[in-house]
Amino acid sequence: MARYILNSVDETIELGRRIGSQLKEPVIIKLDGEMGTGKTHFTKGLAVGLGIIDDITSPTFSILNIYNGGRMTLYHIDAYRIKNIKEAFDAGLGEVFASTGGVVVLEWGDILESFFENMVINIKIDDLGDSRRELIIEGWDYDSTGN
Ligand SMILES: Nc1ncnc2c1ncn2[C@@H]1O[C@H](COP(=O)(O)OP(=O)(O)OP(=O)(O)O)[C@@H](O)[C@H]1O
Ligand SMILES: [Mg+2]
Repeated sequence: MARYILNSVDETIELGRRIGSQLKEPVIIKLDGEMGTGKTHFTKGLAVGLGIIDDITSPTFSILNIYNGGRMTLYHIDAYRIKNIKEAFDAGLGEVFASTGGVVVLEWGDILESFFENMVINIKIDDLGDSRRELIIEGWDYDSTGN
């Protein structure tokens, strides 16, 4: 478990970038935290670290955004609007459940937990007020000597 205090949006994006740059294998990252805590901004950095050049936007309405062109495909999911399994498949998430490669980032993922039994990395972001955030990461061995 590691804990970070992030004092600005840029610090959140930078931590995402550092973690993304160290991801070497397909993984599912469950990203929890209240609305507006910075899950999507963290994912923007993660994408940069994966070598993705597209700008990451929130999959609020699309539910699933897929980014190719980096070291691994990024599947960015916002399941906030998903109320049942049928809606999950209608949103195209079946492809992600079946996928064996790539990095899955899952916002509001409690309802999908049963599909992702191999959920490896758990991240929780809390709003500490103003632009301060606390980020707790479990299930990941961060190489602090790396970039
Ligand atoms: N330290 C910080 N880290 C991340 N975002 C911050 C920080 N300080 C302020 N913010 C602001 O908080 C908001 C975070 O928005 P973002 O869409 O990333 O949140 P989210 O957790 O994905 O929300 P949602 O649950 O609605 O998808 C942005 O407006 C951003 O500018
Ligand atoms: Mg979001």
